[in-house]
Amino acid sequence: DPHLSYAELMPATLANIQRGAKALLQGQLVAFPTETVFGLGAAVTELPAIHEIFKAKGRPSEHPLIAHIAPGADLTGWVDRVTPTMQKLIDAFWPGPLTLVVPKGERMPLEVTGGQNSVGIRCPSHPVAMSLLKAVGVPVAAPSANRFGRVSPTRAAHVVAELGNRIPYILDGEVPEVGIESTIVSLLNDQPAILRPGAITAAQIEAVLGVQVKTHSEVSKTPNANPRVSGALEKHYSPDAKVLILSASDLIHWSVNQKTLCVGWSDEFLTQANTLRELNADVQIEALNNNAAEVAKALYATLRQADELACKQILFEKPASHTDWEAVSDRLKRAAA
Ligand code: TXA
Ligand code: MG
Repeated sequence: DPHLSYAELMPATLANIQRGAKALLQGQLVAFPTETVFGLGAAVTELPAIHEIFKAKGRPSEHPLIAHIAPGADLTGWVDRVTPTMQKLIDAFWPGPLTLVVPKGERMPLEVTGGQNSVGIRCPSHPVAMSLLKAVGVPVAAPSANRFGRVSPTRAAHVVAELGNRIPYILDGEVPEVGIESTIVSLLNDQPAILRPGAITAAQIEAVLGVQVKTHSEVSKTPNANPRVSGALEKHYSPDAKVLILSASDLIHWSVNQKTLCVGWSDEFLTQANTLRELNADVQIEALNNNAAEVAKALYATLRQADELACKQILFEKPASHTDWEAVSDRLKRAAA
């Protein structure tokens, strides 16, 4: 595509971060790294830029965006008020991969919140995101920097592939440490509720607040569970290749007749994958470290890698049903839907 060169890929020098901040304040879109995934940013005060986000992503405009702020930024006007519960979570987890859904303040445009009276707000810990947000001085709305329904980007090159022909600036920076989107916790009701699982677990939030938190699986079981969370749509985070989630014992009985990537971390699964490869040259193996955080960090790049290798299917190891693996499980199920 000759238009792929449209976006300027900027190394994260101080000068480029300042250029990025200036562009945001002039109403342009800037993609930037966070510790979770790359975001596609627009200053919340620039409404045409907010509309551009939806256009560039191909995302329905009733979906709310997360507003990002710098550490220590004054929340006055952006959220209704900082409750003691909110303050406890801010003190414990910001900067970091936790989004708080709270009543919005009068300065937060409805265009950002999908017309709702609540806003999702987070303070990322990635050094480039932190200095960019500090330089901008107003919140920056930023969904993941991918086309709607596609795999979230964890490298600047992924953003180029997704949006390079649609946006003017992409800031590069260190590889996202977490690799999957932030945990979203709603503080709108008496009981805090996890709307999207992430690196920060319900148990960690409970430990800080001293109250029971509605887990994501409880929230999903509720009829009409929050349809406003696009990450909650059943099919999401999808590569072109078909994703199958299998245990080592499923793999024993599997036969392969097309180009296949096996992704696993346990000895059992990797042993079976090796057997499969010995029988079929179309099989490739990606071995990840046997640790939920490491798998999360590598997950999206691995899904993209399958497409790059022109694999028709990905056989992913089924994560353990332990809370540590909940967020990885959630993203994998959506990729497989
Ligand atoms: O880790 C992340 O959160 C990344 C990085 C870039 O910060 N951002 C991200 O944004 O994942 P996005 O737009 O792909 O997902 C944001 C989710 C959406 O599913 C949205 O519906 C939900 O947050 N959200 C935002 N505001 C909300 C609100 N007021 N009520 C319910 N859900 C909300
Ligand atoms: Mg997204």
